[in-house]
Amino acid sequence: MTPLTRTVDTLETVEDSALIQLVYVSSITLSARLKASIFDEVEDHARDHNEQHGITGTLCYGNGHFLQCIEGKKSEVFDLQKRIFADSRHKNIEVLLLRVINQRSFVDWRMRLLFLERWLWSPATKKQAAQLSPFLPFTPHGWTSERTEQFLQIIKTFDTPPHIKAAGITYNALGNMFRHIAAPHQAFLIVQGCLSLLLMVALVLLYLS
Ligand SMILES: Cc1cc2nc3c(=O)[nH]c(=O)nc-3n(C[C@H](O)[C@H](O)[C@H](O)COP(=O)(O)O)c2cc1C
Repeated sequence: MTPLTRTVDTLETVEDSALIQLVYVSSITLSARLKASIFDEVEDHARDHNEQHGITGTLCYGNGHFLQCIEGKKSEVFDLQKRIFADSRHKNIEVLLLRVINQRSFVDWRMRLLFLERWLWSPATKKQAAQLSPFLPFTPHGWTSERTEQFLQIIKTFDTPPHIKAAGITYNALGNMFRHIAAPHQAFLIVQGCLSLLLMVALVLLYLS
């Protein structure tokens, strides 16, 4: 059973106009990772679509994973969910929460982007985000509903931290790309670095002698 059919089944008896909240996680694909513009594109879509359809929420990204919370009328959330789940820029989609709610958690946000990588945070952001430590490094697959709820409770209290800016997000994608390429070759890069250094020393000694 796909994540999509599982969620539709779960709320079958709920009215189309009911306010619901969906939280899912996924992993960015390699091709999307290599394209730093994914965050700008998603933000552009979300800004227009979500406002027109009364959708609010937050989209978190870190360590190659997304966690998105989408809130709105059931019919609108399911329509958006179908399109997002069919998006080839991410994979391993898993629904963490799907429930009827009385009020929204992210009232003011059409789709807030939150960036969960410490090294990109400013000192001010680091202070604010210290509460997120138990959730980092960000590996949200398999979170229980309690843990997901705990995470949402923390991030909904955040103001507009600097790391939400698009520039930071683009750097993050680039950083991830670099890490993805460099990580498997760390030993090779270290040996190459040492050899290059020795070669330079040898050349200098040769020149001086
Ligand atoms: C992780 C992720 C989150 C997304 N969130 C939204 C969103 O909140 N709102 C939105 O309109 N599109 C969002 N998108 C983009 C949609 O998947 C899709 O590309 C867009 O709605 C256009 O769909 P269409 O080509 O079927 O019209 C998201 C994509 C990804 C990969």
